[in-house]
Amino acid sequence: MFPVYPLYPVEPVRGEGNYVFDAAGTRYLDFYGGHAVISIGHAHPRYVQAVSEQVARIGFYSNSVENSLQQRLADTLRSVSGYKDHKLFLVNSGAEANENAIKVASFHTGRERVLAFSGAFHGRTSGAVEVTDNPRINSPFNRTDKVTFVPLGNLDAVRRELATETYCAVIIEGIQGVAGIQVPDNAFLQALREVTLQTGTCLILDEVQSGYGRTGRFFAHQHAEIEADLVTMAKGMGCGFPIGGVLIAPHFEAWPGMLGTTFGGNHLACAAAQSVLDVIADEQLVSNAAKVGDELLRQLSQIEGISNVRGRGLMIGFDVEEPASQVRRRLVLKHHVFTGGAGTHTIRLLPALTVQQAHVDECLEALRRAIYETEN
Ligand SMILES: Cc1ncc(COP(=O)(O)O)c(C=O)c1O
Repeated sequence: MFPVYPLYPVEPVRGEGNYVFDAAGTRYLDFYGGHAVISIGHAHPRYVQAVSEQVARIGFYSNSVENSLQQRLADTLRSVSGYKDHKLFLVNSGAEANENAIKVASFHTGRERVLAFSGAFHGRTSGAVEVTDNPRINSPFNRTDKVTFVPLGNLDAVRRELATETYCAVIIEGIQGVAGIQVPDNAFLQALREVTLQTGTCLILDEVQSGYGRTGRFFAHQHAEIEADLVTMAKGMGCGFPIGGVLIAPHFEAWPGMLGTTFGGNHLACAAAQSVLDVIADEQLVSNAAKVGDELLRQLSQIEGISNVRGRGLMIGFDVEEPASQVRRRLVLKHHVFTGGAGTHTIRLLPALTVQQAHVDECLEALRRAIYETEN
């Protein structure tokens, strides 16, 4: 393997609900959700059944034939998300969703510039990495002068840039994840919607990490009661099966061949995504995320040794004094709890939306212990 990932010496071989297990049967509490991917819990019986039945029937055929599973998924997504009039384009990952959203915006406006925000992460493919604020992962090939970054929340800078009417789109995360859980103000998002409309700029909401019910609304930007022109999603959409999507407002026109992908929207991906949405709706997981998340946030802010508790629902960040990597390592290896990191001192919590108060109690007990212990 090309060694680009720092690894824990742990190999989960089985998952069940909010836990994963290694080959020796050791149980790990999963407050990382495989990086916000595990939305309805590991090996949910309805998901297992839907995917197994579909692969036994037909797993794949190309996008040159009808596939009613796609339409059913689009109808369910529109109804569950409240984006009733948008259309759906299906892809395979978050980066690909953002690539296509930018392309649609650029085709539509005829403009080539994109405005993005400090700390943004939108993926690692060519266009997505250009609008990502991290020069370390941007190769010389990817660097162009078509992207401007402005500080998150700085409306004057946004207004100044968009007044030039040279931007096809503004791209913004519903909540910045990789930057360590930075929540944009509702008022800022509302003003952003206004100024994009005034300047003929498309608004792209990247909900790849913050979407699919994680924050207590279906998409995080819906806390601000705004509607975007383009909404991108992936991660929780297939609960581990690779699938992404772009919700596209009705004023964008499609033409044959405008966008395309071999694997996007295949039968197996649609079956996985359909069962995720069905479970989210039937088990009321969006309101569970809000309820359990509120309690998790409240209890976290009472723990000594942690600060700046922030986030919404089950997308939570907080800071520890020690390097977060050391605390997280102890959490995994000694207390058997998976968490996420961001930057030097931030820990991220991104559990499955099925999480219950008993899991919260277990996680917080482990966290208290891990914070007070030193290495050894
Ligand atoms: C907000 C956001 N956008 C896009 C991506 C890229 O998604 P993928 O890794 O599926 O390409 C990520 C991944 O972490 C993300 O957090």
